[in-house]
Amino acid sequence: MYPLQRLWHLPLDMWNKLPLRIDLPIPYLQIDIVFVNDPGQIKILRGDADCGRMHQVPSEQQPGWAHYFFKGTRFHDTAHDAWFIAMEGQEGTADYERRKECVAACLKNEWYSSDDVKKVAELLKSGASDEALAEAMVPIINSRFLQGHKPIPGSIAQDAKAMLNSPVDMLKPGAYEKAVAAGRNVIGFCSASEPIKGLKEVDVAHNIGAAANEVVKTLATLRDNATCKDLDELFTRSENTPTPAVPRVALAASKFGGLLSYPAKPGKTVFFLNISKAAGMERSLFWTFGTGVPERSCPFKPFMMSFLKDVQKQLQP
Ligand code: HEM
Repeated sequence: MYPLQRLWHLPLDMWNKLPLRIDLPIPYLQIDIVFVNDPGQIKILRGDADCGRMHQVPSEQQPGWAHYFFKGTRFHDTAHDAWFIAMEGQEGTADYERRKECVAACLKNEWYSSDDVKKVAELLKSGASDEALAEAMVPIINSRFLQGHKPIPGSIAQDAKAMLNSPVDMLKPGAYEKAVAAGRNVIGFCSASEPIKGLKEVDVAHNIGAAANEVVKTLATLRDNATCKDLDELFTRSENTPTPAVPRVALAASKFGGLLSYPAKPGKTVFFLNISKAAGMERSLFWTFGTGVPERSCPFKPFMMSFLKDVQKQLQP
């Protein structure tokens, strides 16, 4: 398709209420991104085997922009070419089932202590910074993933905070270089501290990053809404969901049941599914912690919701 034809599709797609597709045939970068905001359209993609997880496409065949972006995130360990569990297909060589079960079992078998709850509540009451909250939360959640429950230094929590959360973060001057260097430190720490059997370094690095960013964001929301009676409702409001969107990649030249006006490019067309908007519309925590269904949802959900309820009790005057 010629560049002008791609442009012509934009108003037509808008008229037909199709997802916004930005298709810029820039050599190497290969930008072809589809922003899917409608929960109904996300459900269509969720059920389509031709819409896959990023690592169902070998890293070197992914579009240049994705290669560049994920290198600065907690989702890809570029040095070992290893991807976090959520980016893996269910079947294949990446051992998805065993790794996911391992994270879920660690979270289920070992909860948190009442001292952990008190400590975090005190930090919230005293108006502690996000950095201080990250330094407290990272070891509470993540030491369990390291052999011998090794402590996790504050500098690693800060490095994890510096990693990219969305492509927009790359626009801040210096942020990308800082994120890549920070990611290297976090992965280096995870390697040296030996993840428990069954997990890869990138799994532990991701979990540290999620604690330093998403969990801290969630706690700050709780602090601002300490008297809220319904935490499920609070954390399905679009403005309060810590993960705005999740990526998927086209595995075939499909139009996905008419969602695209011209076929996707296999391995190159990337979808961003706006789960945050869906959470607000459908009021389900399975959108806050996944794509609206229990299957492949975040195994941290029960831990997080229980921890929030316990901290909230401590915040009451
Ligand atoms: C408030 C904090 C968190 C939120 C809102 C959150 C949200 C999510 C979301 C939306 C997904 C689905 C990703 C996708 O479909 O592409 C996911 C997956 C996952 N999350 Fe979390 N997460 C949080 C913290 C954590 C933490 C701290 C851990 C580990 C300790 C964790 C472990 C996982 C795992 C292993 C998956 C992959 C599940 C699968 O693919 O089957 N998450 N999370």
